[in-house]
Amino acid sequence: MSKITAAITGVGAYLPEYKLTNQILETMVDTNDEWITTRTGIKERRILKEDGKGTSYLAIKAAQDLIDKKGIDPKDIELVIVATATPDMKAASTAAFTATNIGATNAFSFDLEAACSSFLFGMSVAARYIESGKYKNVLLIGADKNSSMINYKDRATCIIFGDGAGAVLFEPNHEGLGLQDELLRSNGEGREFLHAQYGGSSYPSTPEAIAEGKHFVFQEGKTVFKNAVFNMADVTERILERNNLTNDDISWLAAHQANKRIIEATANRVSLDPAKVMMNIHKYGNTTSATLPLLLHDYESQLKKDDKIIFAAFGGGFTWGSIYLKWAYNS
Ligand code: UT7
Repeated sequence: MSKITAAITGVGAYLPEYKLTNQILETMVDTNDEWITTRTGIKERRILKEDGKGTSYLAIKAAQDLIDKKGIDPKDIELVIVATATPDMKAASTAAFTATNIGATNAFSFDLEAACSSFLFGMSVAARYIESGKYKNVLLIGADKNSSMINYKDRATCIIFGDGAGAVLFEPNHEGLGLQDELLRSNGEGREFLHAQYGGSSYPSTPEAIAEGKHFVFQEGKTVFKNAVFNMADVTERILERNNLTNDDISWLAAHQANKRIIEATANRVSLDPAKVMMNIHKYGNTTSATLPLLLHDYESQLKKDDKIIFAAFGGGFTWGSIYLKWAYNS
């Protein structure tokens, strides 16, 4: 029997309706459209406004979109992974709630947390289950309600992040399509530069910490920026080298949408034609775990069977990596 590879066979997405534009942000903090656009490439982000709706709401909607598009029976899904940095609650799996609500009643499920690299690492995990030969339908969802941990008085972070979700289905492939190679890394020395200090187990929330806003995301932008540029470009270059790929061989770069300048620097390192660089940061900002599946969703109609896609991500922790995947279908 031919070797089993793990292919993406469907994509779904969900974005909340409310658009937080640069113009609205200008009325909230000391910033302006020109600064945000030139420094980040972002024009607007989506925000989930309704009280009591968390990341699972986004994840369920994205998964339902995929299920409807593909016409699959959710009971056939065997595993649901929710990649997220903003789980609904502590001590209760967001993935379990999501799986049950989409009708994946025969699946087991778990959350996967690796900050902005959650979905990328989730691709690696999902692929291992498929490659084992024991699983045939693995649903990987990247979902984040970043607005739940952003201080809308802090111009260093509130201009960047948005809410959203994307979902992909992994199935076995016998033509050698799907995930080909991966280079995944982490370095805990990066924690001090990007985190929400209070509200976790080290520093449970206190009224004083909340009053001082220590439960919100803090980012030392410049340090994160430098590390993101260096490391995303580095793993992208190395994964090309070790797979004997030139820039001409690559069909697409799907890079984590954190900052347009970081994405362009990664593309420049491997001299990639800008037309091959997927980009939607202007519409959604940084949606953390959702950026990669949202790119696939927005570009799905342009993707062709056998297209060679390089994924790259960098995020808190630090965590980062690159994955080489061959696309498995024409839309
Ligand atoms: O997804 C996880 C990984 N995260 C990332 O990859 C994000 C990485 N970092 C970045 O994308 C960038 O560092 C930022 C977009 C966050 C900031 O851009 P920057 O070019 O690094 O700006 P900066 O923080 O060095 O600030 C430059 C200037 C400062 O003023 P002075 O000191 O030069 O007078 C800031 O106070 O811009 C000022 N500034 C702003 N001005 C208008 C900072 N934020 C804003 C703002 N609007 N929102």
